[in-house]
Amino acid sequence: MNAFELLRADHEKVAQLFERLESATGKAKLGVFDQIKTELELHTHIEEKIFYPALERPAETQELTAEAYEEHATVKNLLRELSGARTPNEQWEILAKTLQENVEHHVQEEENELFGKARQALEEEEIEELGQQMEAEKARKQGGARKSAKKSSTKKASKKSAAAKKGGKKRSAKKPAKKAAKKSSGKKGASKGRSRKASGKKRSTKKSAKKGRR
Ligand SMILES: [Fe+2]
Ligand SMILES: [Fe+2]
Repeated sequence: MNAFELLRADHEKVAQLFERLESATGKAKLGVFDQIKTELELHTHIEEKIFYPALERPAETQELTAEAYEEHATVKNLLRELSGARTPNEQWEILAKTLQENVEHHVQEEENELFGKARQALEEEEIEELGQQMEAEKARKQGGARKSAKKSSTKKASKKSAAAKKGGKKRSAKKPAKKAAKKSSGKKGASKGRSRKASGKKRSTKKSAKKGRR
């Protein structure tokens, strides 16, 4: 897969997750959000580590790349604000919509503007190689995440069995519910006008939209 194919596939996956987010309710909504967060963190990571650095120097892509970093920062802020919610209340929903609009805007800019200019700035071979590098980085990150999840579940299991042995009878491990509740409280989710799309900036799939922006 070359760089563009890989990134487009990621974009599509996230778009589908946002569709699921719209129809999901209650706790299930938060579950879908977690998936979106994981996907977006991985995607922005490989772009910032591998794809964007290759586009920072060429004159054709310099400005758009700088803008892309800024848009990533906005998305990361929104993800942070949305994380840790216990229920998706009205404010959370508004913020989630803002996230979706920001992501859609950014994806359009990448696919309709940046990719075209990157094609001019880079050799075919480089585009292929960047794709392979990003694929490898994704696999490395995902492997690491799986490993740490496995490690923590093994840790929990061994703790559980140790507790059972100590007590001489089966006893379930105490859940740190209070701790988790403390952690998620006190975070108010408001965009505070920070994001560019919060003000209802039009969503357009037309390529012509790009012309009016600069
Ligand atoms: Fe992207
Ligand atoms: Fe991006």
